[in-house]
Amino acid sequence: MAESMQGLKRSCRCAELSKADIGREVTVMGWVAKNRNKGGIVFVDLRDRSGILQIIFEEESAGSEIFEKAGKLRSEFVIAVTGKVEARSGAVNENLATGEIEIRAMGLRVLSESQTPPFPIEEDIATKEEIRLKYRCLDLRRPDIQANIIMRSKVATLTRAFLSKEGFLEIETPMLCKSTPEGARDYLVPSRVHPGKFYALPQSPQLFKQMLMVSGYDRYMQIARCFRDEDLRADRQPEFTQIDMELSFVDIDDVIDVNERLLAYLFKEILGVEVSLPIQRMTWQECMDRFGSDKPDLRFGMELKDISDLVKDCGFSVFSGAIAAGGSVRGINATGMGEMPRKKIDALVDFAKGYGAKGLAYIAIAGDGTVKSSFAKFMSEEEMAAIQKALDAKPGDLLLFAADRNKIVWNVLGALRLELAQQQGLLDKNEYRFLWVTEFPQFEWSDEEERFVAMHHPFTMPMEEDLDQLESNPGAVRAKAYDIVLNGCEIGGGSVRIHQADIQERMFKALGLKEEETQEKFGFLLDAFKYGVPPHAGLAYGLDRLVMLMAKRDSIRDVIAFPKVKDASDLLTNAPDVVDAKQLKELSIICDLPKEENVTE
Ligand code: AMO
Ligand code: AMP
Repeated sequence: MAESMQGLKRSCRCAELSKADIGREVTVMGWVAKNRNKGGIVFVDLRDRSGILQIIFEEESAGSEIFEKAGKLRSEFVIAVTGKVEARSGAVNENLATGEIEIRAMGLRVLSESQTPPFPIEEDIATKEEIRLKYRCLDLRRPDIQANIIMRSKVATLTRAFLSKEGFLEIETPMLCKSTPEGARDYLVPSRVHPGKFYALPQSPQLFKQMLMVSGYDRYMQIARCFRDEDLRADRQPEFTQIDMELSFVDIDDVIDVNERLLAYLFKEILGVEVSLPIQRMTWQECMDRFGSDKPDLRFGMELKDISDLVKDCGFSVFSGAIAAGGSVRGINATGMGEMPRKKIDALVDFAKGYGAKGLAYIAIAGDGTVKSSFAKFMSEEEMAAIQKALDAKPGDLLLFAADRNKIVWNVLGALRLELAQQQGLLDKNEYRFLWVTEFPQFEWSDEEERFVAMHHPFTMPMEEDLDQLESNPGAVRAKAYDIVLNGCEIGGGSVRIHQADIQERMFKALGLKEEETQEKFGFLLDAFKYGVPPHAGLAYGLDRLVMLMAKRDSIRDVIAFPKVKDASDLLTNAPDVVDAKQLKELSIICDLPKEENVTE
């Protein structure tokens, strides 16, 4: 039977007590984590969000009624205990913050009972994620997940405090917005008042924060929810949170400066980790050439080497052909993996094919120097020796090569590099390697749309020194855009924005957008810019990704209280779901679905 709390007041959380409190009478409340009856003494581990506290019930001190009641407690019952803080009677528990003390109970109330939970409420249990998410309230009670959620709250609080001190104002921007293409697919919200018209949920506060700069707010920040209807992965959710900011009268270095100090502050305060400033910077081109990725993981080497010059005239047509077609041949040295069995090498070839490679050529050098290679028969001995030298190969090394268009070669070797590092256990979650990636290309060619599209967004300022190539050679124009990368994960990105109308016009033209189109899509922003726009720049972090890395987790689902699964559904509430025919009618919506799926009919 559930009892009331009347007349009781919690004095503190469980793990807020320590040796210093010995002798105090306290009232603690929480969930029963464990209950052991050791003939004459009942030991209860009481859990709340601060941690675990041992309670002892003995007939002599608690009285027979309470003692008997304590014997009947079961896991996850919610109880209130009044008692005295004492030094541990048994052995001190080094694993517990409260390991030196216990509470000798005098009073007990069962505030509510619990059924047996579908899985134990313990740290790092191996329960299937679908079950955990279906019973998310119980999953969120687990100490490791609670630690993540508490850390997330701290990150948000400290970020606000830091940025406020730096002169940022926290300003909310709308959730119901106008749909603006470019970027991911929008989530749409139908309007009842305007039949046939739709709002879009914001993919980011981008346009609003730029308008706030026009309005003179000069330093804006927001912890903003964003919505993107895109394919989900471990580091992507359909709704996620950004630490978003925009600054006026600044250039790249100003944005980088305040953000480096913010990151150093968060890592110091929360993890006790010193981030040495300034954070390393690398251009996009160098990242691609050395790591095959625009978000390189710098915790290990295994850099790419371009061997195109060495093999452009060789007899292996896979290599010479790729170069003749304008591509390149590059390789990596998987040091110490030269004795990898053929089967495992074949698995790497398949892995590479998954990233668009037509094949993967290799040279495997055994510890005794014996060389096995998939293409040696097409090469001269000198050529083979030159390739090995270029990759700094030693006995025991495995060299892997991709030949194709640059984009594919980078993609394949970049992914392979990470895969091999994982296989070799080179990725230490306690090491934090930050990197600013700068000088991104302004445009990216879209095969699908047969036009250049903006790599960041159409309001990103090109580098001044490349402006004269905007029309003649758009592919070569670099942008004043930057990403902040941590351990191979893009945790944030931003850019200096265009504030000169003539450059914006040239940008739209380069993107193949007609004037009516730009007016229709972005007219409100362009109009705002006519009334005095300050030079401005900004950046947004993926808060979920940042906390995921700080909490040393592999998935952002572990740092989001109520995340969605791969197909964007919520297993706890079963959203999305069908709605009443009446609701659809009010919105003038008819669902055009195959008969069997049209459940609302
Ligand atoms: P961008 O699109 O790069 O930039 O987003 C900024 C950061 O948000 C995170 N992120 C995501 N996190 C989880 N799930 C997702 N689906 C997801 N998509 C993005 C990433 C990313 O670095 N308005 C610009 C910023 C600016 O220019 O100021 C923007 O949104 O960590
Ligand atoms: P083949 O002559 O097609 O049997 O290829 C010989 C070797 O080259 C095999 O190990 C293939 O996996 C490899 N190979 C094929 N295409 C490529 C490519 N585009 N890049 C790198 N290696 C390749």
